[in-house]
Amino acid sequence: MSDEAGAEDVELEARLEEQAEFEPPESFVEQANVSDPEIYEEFDETWPNCWRAAAELLDWEDDYDQVLDDSNPPFYEWFTGGSLNASTNCLDRHLEERGDEAAVEWVGEPTDEANRTYTYEELHREVNEFAAALRDIGVEEDDVVTMYMPMIPELPIAMLACARIGAPHSVVFAGFSADALATRMNSADSEYLVTCDGYYRRGDALDHLDKANEGLESVEHDVESVVVDRLGDELEHSLAPNQHDYEELVTEHAGATVEPVDRDAEDMLFLMYTSGTTGQPKGVKHTTGGYLSWAAWTSQAVLDIKPEDTYFCTADIGWITGHSYIVYGPLALGTTTTMYEGTPDHPERDRLWEIVEDLEVTQLYTAPTAIRAFMKWGSEYPDAHDLSSLRLLGTVGEPINPRAWKWYYKYIGGEECPIVDTWWQTETGGMMVTTLPGVKNMKPGSAGPPLPGLDVEIVDTNGDQVEPGRAGYLTVQKPWPGMLRTLYQNDERYIEEYWEEYSDTDSDDPEDWVYFPEDGAKIDEDGYITVLGRVDDVLNVSGHRLGTMEIESAIVGVEGVAEAAVVGGEHELKGEAVYTYVITEDGYEGDDALRQRITESIEDAIGPIARPEEIVFTPELPKTRSGKIMRRLLEDIANEAELGDTSTLRNPDVVEEIRTKVQD
Ligand code: WT7
Repeated sequence: MSDEAGAEDVELEARLEEQAEFEPPESFVEQANVSDPEIYEEFDETWPNCWRAAAELLDWEDDYDQVLDDSNPPFYEWFTGGSLNASTNCLDRHLEERGDEAAVEWVGEPTDEANRTYTYEELHREVNEFAAALRDIGVEEDDVVTMYMPMIPELPIAMLACARIGAPHSVVFAGFSADALATRMNSADSEYLVTCDGYYRRGDALDHLDKANEGLESVEHDVESVVVDRLGDELEHSLAPNQHDYEELVTEHAGATVEPVDRDAEDMLFLMYTSGTTGQPKGVKHTTGGYLSWAAWTSQAVLDIKPEDTYFCTADIGWITGHSYIVYGPLALGTTTTMYEGTPDHPERDRLWEIVEDLEVTQLYTAPTAIRAFMKWGSEYPDAHDLSSLRLLGTVGEPINPRAWKWYYKYIGGEECPIVDTWWQTETGGMMVTTLPGVKNMKPGSAGPPLPGLDVEIVDTNGDQVEPGRAGYLTVQKPWPGMLRTLYQNDERYIEEYWEEYSDTDSDDPEDWVYFPEDGAKIDEDGYITVLGRVDDVLNVSGHRLGTMEIESAIVGVEGVAEAAVVGGEHELKGEAVYTYVITEDGYEGDDALRQRITESIEDAIGPIARPEEIVFTPELPKTRSGKIMRRLLEDIANEAELGDTSTLRNPDVVEEIRTKVQD
């Protein structure tokens, strides 16, 4: 860098540093899908009818009779009486005008492999063929089909094929372990699996089918599977009799068309498992009408997606972000959605910027954990590429600190792109709290106001609103179309997990029902919300939710472990990292061999994302007199923070002892 550039840089940095509020660039506002500030008032006044605007983005087979049926809270129903098909909305209706335009632009990890571009026409054809194939192997309407696949085009194809025949999908993140796959398939009684032989990760060909097969061994019922050949000759597998080769199946059904199954608005579109406070993951149920209209409306209003865009979300489709904002939202709007198989640092740290330049990407949606890594690698990587095609930037998954926000704004957006910091969850189906980029100013570090038509309050433990600036709990006071409907086959847990805290559960008045996402937050004088993080025993590691209980139960299953506690500690790149405190059984050493077994057990139960940062052996865990583990103190230790009050402990001395061990 020249001196001059260096000086300019410092100046700019200083200016950005001070600036607490940013106006959306004029050039963006002029062309924004939503630019009328009246929308907030208008939606408030017309609620719940305002959500017709979301439903109108879709093609309905039968019109709905009622926008919201709130007669049995918290089992809300949206667009009742209506029917539609999600694959028709994502494919068929675009054929006439956009049949030859790219629907999915797939970039493989190896740089010498050509991109695979699927036009709407081609995607439609392949989805039809695979839908016919799924029927052929026995899939019927309402059967849950599990997908255990990495970022390859056959994943959205399989999802849309399921949607076409009315079979809900349940996508399990490919990085999850064999056990995690089995748990989810058993829980959903899923008799079908779509998976693949393997995929590339930082240049290596990973075997995935081995892991899938291992998982299948623990599934309690028979499973018919389909295996995509991603790696060709690189990896040879022999398939069992109830395993079908994807390519063969599709070829057998070449040219087939499958009439899309008419689904009620409230019929399940998919299940997505997410971590909760207990060891059992929660099967979040999303519906066809409400979810799809939410994904489409937020994609249009917040991501500003237009059909002619090339939009790029770096999430994995194995998480809700990929469902809503790689597959369903963008395709419902008829745009080009980009899928990248690999990691941002392969083969070099400029891979994403190369993709943005190459494809002339217009919107980039990524996570703070990635932005922190880009920032650490340095601005020379984005600087080496022409990123001027970008019009909007987004982030999701965890709070973004103002420094990372400003870096993203300056080095990726060239100070010409609004940033949407979007707060939402697996359960909300889509974005909830964020600025409308063509309407609102941005405040780095704050997600922004709730979207129009949403009633979000920050409350204290009694449910009363807290003063601006004070920390409280984020609550959603009114239902919205994209919300989860229940936890799969567990209405009771649905109420317990999300509603009990702030609702009068005996009431059938919807006013008495409040949704609690288990996040802490504060609000400022302008109604901008800063999300502070989870208030339950769930960690947010690199934007992914991990239940401490799930990790703990993997640890106590290891021979030689008597007791374990897992907490989150701050981490420069991951946001939070897994810290584990372990008491060994009599006769066992807390040594590296045991550490190794613990790490393996965690990876077997969940996956490498849950790998612990630190495993501390301790003779005792800090406990209250009633025997409850004081996690707060363990967190303080992990964060090297000043210790909170230890006076209520049964064993106050142990805290110092643990601290010495960790901080050595
Ligand atoms: C949890 C949901 C939403 C898709 C990805 C994660 C945290 C999410 C933000 C944000 C601060 C955020 C919350 C939330 N979170 N977005 N913009 N600012 N925190 O989905 O796995 O269901 O996790 O992620 O704690 O509850 P998820």
